[in-house]
Amino acid sequence: MYNPFSLQGKTVLVTGASSGIGRAVAVECAKMGANVVITGRNTERLNETFLALAAGEHLQIVADITTESGINSLVENLPKLDGCVNNAGIAQPLLVQQIEKQDINEVFDINTFAPIVLTQKLLSNKKLNKKASLVFTSSISGVYCSAIGGSLYSASKAAINGFIKGAALDLAGREIRVNSVNPGLIATNIFSEGTVTAEQLDEEIKRYPLRRFGKPEEVAYAVIYLLSAASEWVTGTNLKIDGGFTLL
Ligand SMILES: NC(=O)c1ccc[n+]([C@@H]2O[C@H](COP(=O)([O-])OP(=O)(O)OC[C@H]3O[C@@H](n4cnc5c(N)ncnc54)[C@H](OP(=O)(O)O)[C@@H]3O)[C@@H](O)[C@H]2O)c1
Repeated sequence: MYNPFSLQGKTVLVTGASSGIGRAVAVECAKMGANVVITGRNTERLNETFLALAAGEHLQIVADITTESGINSLVENLPKLDGCVNNAGIAQPLLVQQIEKQDINEVFDINTFAPIVLTQKLLSNKKLNKKASLVFTSSISGVYCSAIGGSLYSASKAAINGFIKGAALDLAGREIRVNSVNPGLIATNIFSEGTVTAEQLDEEIKRYPLRRFGKPEEVAYAVIYLLSAASEWVTGTNLKIDGGFTLL
């Protein structure tokens, strides 16, 4: 059947696949025919994602990609890839006056340094096929807006938005494309660990013209587009998925 968005025959790595957006990306990519390699630190939750994947030649690799040994063992165990979804990340709301050097390290290690280092290692270890597509889960935060306590997170994501543009230029000659998705608030666990109160979320939802937060699958569909042949002429793009939030 004609389907320019098909991922049939493609092998795709998804980081942060043990929950939230990454899990949805892995599940939806497998439904579109991809063989997926999923990674995260939590063995049990990663396995839950693995069990949810449609039939295919999938792999799961437990790794902390902020450590040298973790990222190296991930890369060593990877097959050749047609796509990589750099999605693992954390939110750590802090007022500027509260920020300590250790906080900067923690947020940047996973949100910024790990995806950049992974990209470099995929290239130097020849793990990317020609015409591979690299997708980064960034955010509207740091590019179009921010939030109180969001300076560090915004900075870590703004760096990614810049990185994908330069990387897109560096890799265009090899027909490797580099793009980001920039979601608004998506209903995942990222804000459910005491970082934001239920009252704050109730107030926040009113700022969305479409009157709801996004679903992880709605980010996954954009990722599928960027991984597929449908976007073969798209590189260096930051793709907003935000229910109209940044219009106001
Ligand atoms: N939810 C939103 O509203 C929203 C909006 C815009 C952008 N984003 C971005 O979307 C991405 C996914 O967020 P989410 O909402 O799906 O959050 P989530 O449910 O908390 O998932 C985060 C994922 O990152 C992984 N991770 C964290 N630290 C890691 C490390 N050191 N090494 C390897 N994996 C690590 C976690 O796996 P383990 O716990 O197994 O390590 C988990 O799978 C993040 O980059 C986030 O910034 C989210």
